[in-house]
Amino acid sequence: MGKKIFSGVQPTGNLHLGNYLGAIKNFVELSNDKDNDCIFCVVDLHAITVKQNPKELRSNIRETVATFVASGIDPKKSIIFNQSKVTAHSEAAWILSCSARTGWLSRMTQFKEKAGKDKEKASVGLYSYPVLMAADILLYDTTHVPVGDDQKQHLELCRDIAQKFNNDFGAENFFKAPEPLIQKQFSRIMSLKDGLKKMSKSELSDLSRINLTDNADQIINKIKKAKTDPLPMPSNNEELDKRHEAKNLIGIYSSLTGTKLEKSINEFSGKNFSEFKEILSQVLVEKISPISNEISKLLAEKNFLDSILLEGSEKADKIASKKMKKIHEILGF
Ligand code: TYM
Repeated sequence: MGKKIFSGVQPTGNLHLGNYLGAIKNFVELSNDKDNDCIFCVVDLHAITVKQNPKELRSNIRETVATFVASGIDPKKSIIFNQSKVTAHSEAAWILSCSARTGWLSRMTQFKEKAGKDKEKASVGLYSYPVLMAADILLYDTTHVPVGDDQKQHLELCRDIAQKFNNDFGAENFFKAPEPLIQKQFSRIMSLKDGLKKMSKSELSDLSRINLTDNADQIINKIKKAKTDPLPMPSNNEELDKRHEAKNLIGIYSSLTGTKLEKSINEFSGKNFSEFKEILSQVLVEKISPISNEISKLLAEKNFLDSILLEGSEKADKIASKKMKKIHEILGF
């Protein structure tokens, strides 16, 4: 039987190589399997958990759609929509927030990281963010959720919320506990400036990430400036594990070329970083430039992008409203 796939990406600009290798590349592969029903959501409601400029948000929503399509998701075969246009998401989030326990949410590491030292000043939305994510997933009877490693804890929470709701209302198997689809390797791409930090949109330095809109010169320059160590390239897995920046760069190379990590280690063992970086840049330019060129072409076609979202939200709304009706019945509304 085919899978029911759902995943989301925040429209907060600067979609990067981490988003691509950790999630979007996987979306494309799953959506190419005819047996799967795929829904990819631009999660604009999640984006506003931190302050957004409305004009930029609107353009980032379109850019996220453009990135999906440029990466190879066919909007005729998969549903692409933005979360705010299907009101069931906010409604289900409220309802599920009454099943979720505050203790569960307080353990979420992403909240702790994003809220920083001054937790009292973080928005309530940032705190309850994973509940909205559970609503996204559960409304569509999703069986599988492709994400990067950083979302694993949120998916475990989603399963707990589903189970609690089902138990509380004696509605066995009403919400389906979804399986995360997290790649075993390369599911956490690190910053080019610090091998212990996740590559992220919010990192101040643009040199820390390869954006999917970067051109060839920018990519080459960023790889040239990527942090390494003074030793030659590592020659085995143990050595690699201790050298975080080398591990990240070889991981990126392996993931992009579909090569086993061990094979990549052997290929570059003992060589200079400069030699490896040149090859890595070439591979990156080869894989990312076509996407970035296509994104800029698509960005000029605003009506086309808007029509994808409109059509997608109509389809998504049909599925979500049906589920919401049943939720009302279960609750006694
Ligand atoms: P977001 O927008 O932060 O990231 C989108 C996807 O990219 C993955 N990702 C990474 N993977 C590997 N290495 C990295 N450095 C890296 N950075 C980001 C993320 O794991 C994610 O898969 N909460 C989600 C969006 C969301 C969602 C959902 C996902 C909302 N509702 C329902 C799945 C299902 C988020 O903020 O992703």
